[in-house]
Amino acid sequence: MGILSKIFSNTRKPEGFFGRMMVNGMNGGGHARMAEWGLSHLTLFDNANVLDVGCGGGANVARLLKRCPNGKVTGIDYSPVSVKKSSEVNAAAIAAGRCRVLEGNASALPSDGNTFDIVTAFETVYFWPDIEECFRGVHRILKGGGRFAIVNEDDGLTGNNEKWEKLIEGMHTYTPDELRAHLTNAGFRDIAVHDDEQHHWLTVIATK
Ligand SMILES: C[S@@+](CC[C@H](N)C(=O)[O-])C[C@H]1O[C@@H](n2cnc3c(N)ncnc32)[C@H](O)[C@@H]1O
Repeated sequence: MGILSKIFSNTRKPEGFFGRMMVNGMNGGGHARMAEWGLSHLTLFDNANVLDVGCGGGANVARLLKRCPNGKVTGIDYSPVSVKKSSEVNAAAIAAGRCRVLEGNASALPSDGNTFDIVTAFETVYFWPDIEECFRGVHRILKGGGRFAIVNEDDGLTGNNEKWEKLIEGMHTYTPDELRAHLTNAGFRDIAVHDDEQHHWLTVIATK
């Protein structure tokens, strides 16, 4: 594995020194603008119960807590480095009983069915194994009428994704049509696609 590949594989699973650098990076800059754009398409409400899967450094957990001031937000990530950073960033909300950050895999979501109003996934579905099985898990833990929002920095339509997929083993950049098909097969309905033509950012919101 080349050094670049070694560094960028930390976007898939942050580990060690480079992983800690990566989660700090995820919490700022371009990611923040893109996340705000994605969230602008998602109607949230005051006391929503939200799950953010692949929460990374926890910046989006913090955004969701702010937008649901009487709600609860759970972050989940399979990287202990991400869980630690996300817990630090959201320490006050955790102490107030409004937030939890758990170690776990998108392929085996821990909650009972019909638990969450909203599930979000920012910049992470590229790395999930067996995407339809993961989406079925998201569908299971959502309440009826609950929504699943996927926000990706790349809509897979420009070819720009190829260099990242070469560097990061197991990465796949989904096009809007691919996501629509996988979400439909997993049982979702009313799938809305928002594709930013300038940046090729992608937000897909699906309803249970
Ligand atoms: C590029 S980072 C994005 C982090 C955060 N969502 C953000 O937008 O800043 C991808 C995150 O997804 C997590 N991740 C990838 N595959 C996962 C899986 N199967 N289960 C849980 N977390 C996963 C990684 O550990 C990493 O923290």
